[in-house]
Amino acid sequence: KKILFVASEAVPFVKTGGLADVVGSLPKCFQKEHFDIRVMVPKYLCIKEELRNQMTYINHFYMDYLDQSRYVGILQYVHEGITFYFIDNESYFGGPKPYGDWLYDLEKFCFFSRAALSALPVIGFQPEVVHCHDWQTALIPILLKDRFHDGEFFCNMKSVFTIHNLKFQGVWDVKTIQRLTCLPDYYFTPDKLEAYKDGNLLKGGIVYADAITTVSETYAKEIQMPFYGEGLDGLMRARAGSLRGIVNGIDYDEFDPENDTSIVQNYNSKNVQKEKGKNKIALQKELGLDQDETRFMVGIVSRLTDQKGLDLIQCVIDELCQDKIQLVILGTGDERYENMFRHYAWKYPDKISANIYYSEAMSHKIYAACDAFLMPSLFEPCGLSQLMALRYGTLPIVRETGGLKDTVEPYNVYEKSGTGFSFSNYNAHEMLGIIRYAESIFYDKNKEWNVLVCRAMNKDFSWKTSAMKYQELYDWLPGC
Ligand code: ADP
Ligand code: GLC
Repeated sequence: KKILFVASEAVPFVKTGGLADVVGSLPKCFQKEHFDIRVMVPKYLCIKEELRNQMTYINHFYMDYLDQSRYVGILQYVHEGITFYFIDNESYFGGPKPYGDWLYDLEKFCFFSRAALSALPVIGFQPEVVHCHDWQTALIPILLKDRFHDGEFFCNMKSVFTIHNLKFQGVWDVKTIQRLTCLPDYYFTPDKLEAYKDGNLLKGGIVYADAITTVSETYAKEIQMPFYGEGLDGLMRARAGSLRGIVNGIDYDEFDPENDTSIVQNYNSKNVQKEKGKNKIALQKELGLDQDETRFMVGIVSRLTDQKGLDLIQCVIDELCQDKIQLVILGTGDERYENMFRHYAWKYPDKISANIYYSEAMSHKIYAACDAFLMPSLFEPCGLSQLMALRYGTLPIVRETGGLKDTVEPYNVYEKSGTGFSFSNYNAHEMLGIIRYAESIFYDKNKEWNVLVCRAMNKDFSWKTSAMKYQELYDWLPGC
């Protein structure tokens, strides 16, 4: 069976968040004998030159879009056995970042979605399923159902649409969305692409996809309720029969404490107690914190946005800093949160280290060095950071929402079970209480803490099980 993933980002080429991790790592995990999975992403100029230079040109064509004939180049790169296709158009994808101005992004990804489908006959790849991810590719299921449907090439192609984050929907006024999608009036009614009087690409993708998935079972239920539904909970309920939650995995080769070249001391679940601490000392040294292996160190690696529950931290950070604790932050995002962490790092230089930048290597060092990993998200479709933390024996402290709820089992003192700590209400003191509870286990019942660490490391959050579920879904699609 041939499957095409279409998305706006994929590791190792371009990444702004977990979407890239998923699109880059999941295709490797399907049964090679039964599935030919290929991936299509834009050829951004901001992809590292070293990778761009290794892409090979396949073909190009011109596509009419917004009253102009536009160049569509197609390049190819085989990475770890998976064929990646790149859609090239420098005027759209030549910016310093994959995303920028919202309105221009809408145009860019409408162009990309159209070009991605038009490129298929040119390269002679005819997938049974086009698997689209997030609003940037939501136009594809719409085009496949109607516009492209007539030709023989596309008539049996099914679409799967995965929601990684319902918050971002690709919304603008109807006139603009209509112009950018080149769709007739017929589509702009409240049962199709119109939502609250605006044009909404994501909504269209959800209405027209043959199957919809999201990235955890809990989030699949949550988005059918107003609080998490981002205005589309009614639609999610209407399409509940075609919606599944399939939890994300992570790349176990890339995130592997035993073979990670970014950390000073490799370790596994057998020698974690003896070896992991060396990474803490090294990180403390690198970041200018007190070097003390026994100090409770909490990490945060995150986009700094409202989604991630950072206002809860702001609320209680002074109180938290009265404790024997170190807090290491790595992230970029809203200025408000960047400055907040800078401020507290200045106020508590021996307790807080604020690293306001993006670095894969530093993220690995934090996953390896810390004792606990804090992720108090307001909502979290899946979350990959807590899975990475578990893999490195760093116990997650999370709010019980979305994928965090599905992947972190709270410590139960009576049953001696669990892989982390969790709290339920979006309340700063509830969070502080659970951080302090974790701290007390760490300091007072260190043996028990170590048992939790081993259990966390032995959990399997590789793609194995979830890739099977996607395979089942592709097989289940009618006519496939
Ligand atoms: P989201 O996709 O909502 O940002 P996820 O937890 O799914 O959240 O994925 C976040 C990914 O981005 C993880 O791989 C995490 O390690 C990485 N990440 C986030 N911020 C940074 C940063 N500043 N530097 C390096 N990696 C980061
Ligand atoms: C989104 C979500 C995150 C999820 C990721 C990959 O960015 O915010 O929770 O893990 O997509 O699916």
